[in-house]
Amino acid sequence: MIETPSPQASALQGTPSPASASGQPGQAAAPPVALRARHLLGIESLSPEEIVLILDTAEAMKEVGSRTVKKVPALRGRTVVNLFFEPSTRTRTSFEIAEKRLSADTLSIAVATSSVTKGETLVDTALNLEAMSPDMIVMRHASSGAAHLLAQICRARIINAGDGMHEHPTQALLDAFTIRQHKKRIAGLKVAIIGDLLHSRVLRSNLHLLGKLGANVWVSAPRTLIPPGIERFGVTATTRVEDAIADADVVMMLRIQMERMQGHFFPSLREYFTLYGLTKERLALARPDAIVMHPGPMNRGVEIASDVADGPASVILEQVSNGVAVRMAVLYLLAGGLD
Ligand code: CP
Repeated sequence: MIETPSPQASALQGTPSPASASGQPGQAAAPPVALRARHLLGIESLSPEEIVLILDTAEAMKEVGSRTVKKVPALRGRTVVNLFFEPSTRTRTSFEIAEKRLSADTLSIAVATSSVTKGETLVDTALNLEAMSPDMIVMRHASSGAAHLLAQICRARIINAGDGMHEHPTQALLDAFTIRQHKKRIAGLKVAIIGDLLHSRVLRSNLHLLGKLGANVWVSAPRTLIPPGIERFGVTATTRVEDAIADADVVMMLRIQMERMQGHFFPSLREYFTLYGLTKERLALARPDAIVMHPGPMNRGVEIASDVADGPASVILEQVSNGVAVRMAVLYLLAGGLD
């Protein structure tokens, strides 16, 4: 059995009640007490109730790491391996902090100095790590579906920290947590997502999540960066960025992912900024209390102007802070099924 967290962390003594903190009026269904799946591979496979459970658990986790409650013993004796095959600042660091605050034994594999550089396959790397009996593996990989592959061959719980252009579930969860913190709800909000939609795993996870929680989602980009068939997610797609931003409650900017682009998707970065960059003038089209989000890393002067990124509407660094609590919640809930 995992240990119950310390008495000081009173909010962690039981599973928090989604009905009390969801901010979703009219959602009074009995809350689930655990995640159904053994792994967190994507938002697609989560129910709305499971998403709310994670957000509410993260609410309780915010208390851990404060001066009064430095850490809790929820994952004491558990080993978590962080396996990042792609660069990361926010996700990797926040997972490491989250694991330490839950008292897990953690290790981070530096892929650049591992046997991967000698040609070892992902499967062999995973099987060798498995042989050392970790309880959980947090993985980022450049290939879509890499986390699903690991989940098929590993006994350890797998947490997808971003797989290619497929999903980045903990990013969408921390985005939802941040939106809920500011707006007290997600259902009915107009959320405009603008940028490199085609290559974005953050977009896909957010489309699943925001759709499941009832947001009114608009997406905007040059036609070449709009994935064909995106309307099947129930979103409104437009090449006119002003239409997406008009009266939005949330404006979420996505990075232009040059490293994933082969060929030219738009004439120049300067022209992209002129037509799609979030400037003060464009932001003025949104609701007066709109918040500006970005998963990072940002390209200032490409998808967002510096004075907007650092301005009063920006919650970009709050997203980063909330990433720790949300990742603690995911680790905690998945660990609940370890025994
Ligand atoms: N948002 C995000 O995934 O950032 P990192 O690449 O720094 O982890």
